[in-house]
Amino acid sequence: MRPKTIALDGPAGSGKSTIGQALAVRLHYAMVDTGLIYRLVARGVLDDGADPDDMDAVVGISARVLKDVEVIRTDTGGVIRVAGRPLSEMRLHADDITRTVPRVARFERVREIVREIQRRVISEGPTILAGRDIGTVVAPEAELKLYLDVSLQERAARKLWAQNVDELTTQAEVERQLAERDQLDRDRETSPMRIAMDAVVIRTDKMSVDETVDIITAMCGLESTAAPGVMT
Ligand code: C5P
Repeated sequence: MRPKTIALDGPAGSGKSTIGQALAVRLHYAMVDTGLIYRLVARGVLDDGADPDDMDAVVGISARVLKDVEVIRTDTGGVIRVAGRPLSEMRLHADDITRTVPRVARFERVREIVREIQRRVISEGPTILAGRDIGTVVAPEAELKLYLDVSLQERAARKLWAQNVDELTTQAEVERQLAERDQLDRDRETSPMRIAMDAVVIRTDKMSVDETVDIITAMCGLESTAAPGVMT
């Protein structure tokens, strides 16, 4: 039996959105990269010149910017839009947004608003959600929970390889930035990044996107073999 909901968690730069997107095309599921929604909040905070540590200000901005967020299901995963504009076209991976987002994502009232959007999508049909707390908090009922585990060195190398960083940024600097973000996401009190007890951990250091997607697709067809454990 195919899982209705697939939770895809993992640290920064572990390939959740790439894998999730490829999987969505393969399985015809909706796919929500939940990091984009938190990034939209961080952008609102920066645009307003607000203090990311001011909870009331951040919650007010979240309520405003998330009000019109909608997820449109398509055959290839779907589109998250705000006021008709896809979030993927909003340059939400800019450095200042990336630095700010863990600070705004730690407030429970912000997470509640985002959770409501996520749960609405889940209730509408088969869904893949990529994030940090999907298997533990957002969708504890998900039939398939995956945690992508990739070494810090490999994650940084992939970012450099994809030229997803400033030209002069070094491997050591990318590693430092990823580690810092992971620590903030792991140490926060609300919905910290955790591996769900019943998650399958997939180490993708030596795997291509296609190989990883093949493994997950097989798990969806043979649900009983997807026992909790570690795959390398
Ligand atoms: O996945 P991405 O790197 O785009 O996420 C950006 C940030 O959004 C994370 O570092 C984290 O602070 C926050 N986030 C979260 N919970 C999620 C997804 C993202 O707190 N489910």
